[in-house]
Amino acid sequence: MSIDLARARADTPATARLLHFNNAGAGLMPTPVLETVITHLQLEAETGGYEAAALAEPRLNRVYDSVAALLDCDRDEVALVENATVAWQLAFHSLQLGKGDRIVTGEAEYASNYISFLQVARLRGVEVTVVPSDRDGALSVAALERILEPRVKLIAVTHVPTNGGLVNPAAAIGKLARAHEIPFLLDACQSAGQLPLDVDAIGCDMLSATGRKYLRGPRGTGFLYVRRTLLDRLEPPFIDLHGARWVAPDRYELRPDARRFENWESYIAGQLGLGVAVDYALGWGLHAIAARVVKLAEELRTRLGAIPGVTLHDLGTQRCGIVSFTIAGREPDQVQATLRQQHINVSVSGPSSTLLDALARKLPDLLRASVHYYNSETEIDRFVQAIAKIARQG
Ligand SMILES: Cc1ncc(COP(=O)(O)O)c(C=O)c1O
Repeated sequence: MSIDLARARADTPATARLLHFNNAGAGLMPTPVLETVITHLQLEAETGGYEAAALAEPRLNRVYDSVAALLDCDRDEVALVENATVAWQLAFHSLQLGKGDRIVTGEAEYASNYISFLQVARLRGVEVTVVPSDRDGALSVAALERILEPRVKLIAVTHVPTNGGLVNPAAAIGKLARAHEIPFLLDACQSAGQLPLDVDAIGCDMLSATGRKYLRGPRGTGFLYVRRTLLDRLEPPFIDLHGARWVAPDRYELRPDARRFENWESYIAGQLGLGVAVDYALGWGLHAIAARVVKLAEELRTRLGAIPGVTLHDLGTQRCGIVSFTIAGREPDQVQATLRQQHINVSVSGPSSTLLDALARKLPDLLRASVHYYNSETEIDRFVQAIAKIARQG
């Protein structure tokens, strides 16, 4: 099935006046998502927040089914949280790694995740091992296999790094993780919504994602998947009266499902919007979305690469919708501002977001153009012309 571009753009009214190549920052919400959020906020204002939540209860419940359908998991394995960072941190810290335990990760790991590794290394003597990349720039599965041993208590990998189009070989990593019975935490923040994610096919035990990026959900939403078999062994680092029940003066009982990772107070309008965003993506089909996103991004890479002065920085043989590049003699921030004046959105990714990769490749700030299925070939033409002009004139 291919994407009906006219319908996708009609559902995204801003595309009439805005060239949005910042979907890895935050995708444009389609109309049904926006209406869901606004309608619920209005209901809260008119009937009261608790009363509105009670009215929305059946729909809120179905959000778990939607996320479960996206990941091909059980609804009990899903927790709705504030963002990808919270999801990831909850999973990571619930493992309670200690002295002598080893974490294995990749060179393109996201800053917040790596900072947490450094924190447990400093506070608890956990060791961190970085798997070298293969010659194409992806995490080397062969090197990972050589590193695995009984002290490795976690494999934590970013699926699509923040600074480029690389897609790490999640399923091959998952296969090794399973063979060695090591928990595998996948940061799918940037792949959710642009690539199919089947947690069994990937073989991950935990997966974190955000709502606002390629899923096109509201900001302030995210989710965590935890495999049933691991769930019973995990004690969330923070628990409240929603994640657990206070059953006796000296005892609490954790919820049996992944919602033990949630808090009671939450962004109900956003969660409803997230559910609609997930259903909306499923309506197009993740394979159809991925095919169009990859095709558009490859076209953009080819065209940008042909402009004198432009250097592309994406790694890997499998690439996604993020195109990273620099223009000789031009500051990325300045380019971003110039494009913004022309109603063109891109983002800038700095070295500190993926420090290991940036140091290894001596990367400066990068321009990041991230396309989605609702972007058009005409927009690519316009974007390429705008970049060519900046490269020529500054
Ligand atoms: C790879 C990766 N992981 C995690 C995050 C954090 O996501 P959030 O801002 O939803 O917490 C980002 C955000 O850019 C990211 O690129």
